Amino acid sequence: MTLQTLILAAGQGTRMRSQLPKVLHQIAGRPLLAHVHRLASSLGDNAISVIYGHGGEQVLKTLGELPARWVEQKERLGTGHAVMQVADWIRDDATVLILYGDVPLLQQSTVQRLLHHAGEGSLGLLTITLDNPTGYGRIIRNGNGDVVSIVEEKDATPEQRTVREVNTGILAVRGGHLKRWLGRLTNDNAQKEYYLTDIIAMAVADGIYVDTTQPGEEAEVLGVNNRQQLAELERLFQARQACSLMEQGVTLRDPARFDLRGDIVQLGQDIEIDVNVILEGRIELGSGVKIGPNVWIRNASIAQGVEILANSVIEDAVIGADSRIGPFARIRPETRLSAHVHVGNFVEIKKAEVGEGSKINHLSYVGDARVGSGVNVGAGTITCNYDGANKHLTVIEDGAFIGSDTQLVAPVTVGRNATIGAGSTITKDTPADTLTLSRAKQINVEGWQRPVKKPKA
Ligand code: UD1
Ligand code: CA
Repeated sequence: MTLQTLILAAGQGTRMRSQLPKVLHQIAGRPLLAHVHRLASSLGDNAISVIYGHGGEQVLKTLGELPARWVEQKERLGTGHAVMQVADWIRDDATVLILYGDVPLLQQSTVQRLLHHAGEGSLGLLTITLDNPTGYGRIIRNGNGDVVSIVEEKDATPEQRTVREVNTGILAVRGGHLKRWLGRLTNDNAQKEYYLTDIIAMAVADGIYVDTTQPGEEAEVLGVNNRQQLAELERLFQARQACSLMEQGVTLRDPARFDLRGDIVQLGQDIEIDVNVILEGRIELGSGVKIGPNVWIRNASIAQGVEILANSVIEDAVIGADSRIGPFARIRPETRLSAHVHVGNFVEIKKAEVGEGSKINHLSYVGDARVGSGVNVGAGTITCNYDGANKHLTVIEDGAFIGSDTQLVAPVTVGRNATIGAGSTITKDTPADTLTLSRAKQINVEGWQRPVKKPKA
């Protein structure tokens, strides 16, 4: 079967009250339209076309790289008119799937079911029965229960408006049929629009059976028209992701307080995630990883056994097995920690490699550095990596011990097993196996008297 998918995305989205085209608003950190494109791409061999309109340049700039035939609908004259924009591209023998760019939660299983209903003699239509059908096109059936047409709310009689089965807009139809019916659409209706829904009555007239199917859950066919709906769908999407993670063996202390805005590309067993954790981008989590409360992680690979304590931030980093991060640690881009590394509170690490078993436990800045294994970096140690113009490298070789409150003025190397006395400012390389310190000698002034307050006159 040849599959062609049309994503209708030219709608204005006035009720979003936004400068941003509606389909670029995000759910879980990804534009609405990207969710729909991802679903379409998941259907295997599928030629995708996106009909865009409102804010076209912005849409192309943000998503234009996605593989699709991008076609602009210059005037928005209805869903039928949108499909007409690509009539030439539609193949007679293809199954054409129509999706909406602002309906992001549709599931692959539902679409697959729908596609089975489309053929030479039938058309697949996704419908749903709602308690409140206001605003939707109504599914009109005859005495045998067969679909005969769709009537839009604005064109419906009071009796037709009582019908609660509605059109989701999503359908699958043989290309040849679709093109034939597109040619016959008119805008002779209440909204003076070319309604794609008019093809249903044409199908029936041509003896094509309209085979309806329903989504697994209502959320799948909900669209975004305003910010309230955007927030609602975000929660539904997050709940779905949380549920899937729990099915895969992850403990979530509270699934309602967990957000994934991206993809977990690798997931071990027995991972525990406390409340208010946000994972973004591309994430790998090894077995036994524990993430404490209020943690934000973006694009990171966290190896097995790692513990991330409360209020830590990790971005573009690799954390080696059994390491312990936080609480209140900040791991910035291009950081690679080996196994069994400890990074404690109020420690910032940027563009640094830290070897196995090294510890940076308190109040430090380590940036542009190569730290060996078994190194102890004392409290308050700072790599002075920036001279106001350029960044320089600090190298701390294996087994070194850096006393508290040391400044390492880069470029500088601390030799293997070297010890730096607390409070030192190190500006030159220090030899291996040696104690280096740079601080004024202590003096003790005997008999010194503290000043006393003068008595008031
Ligand atoms: C449409 C259906 C209605 C259905 C409802 C479900 C028609 C005539 N009506 O209603 O039966 O119950 O969807 O939500 O099809 N779009 C374009 N170009 C246009 C017009 C629309 O690309 O010229 C896109 C929109 O961006 C949107 C989709 O088509 O993604 C549906 O448009 P919308 O205006 O929301 O649909 P309705 O006409 O309200
Ligand atoms: Ca709508």
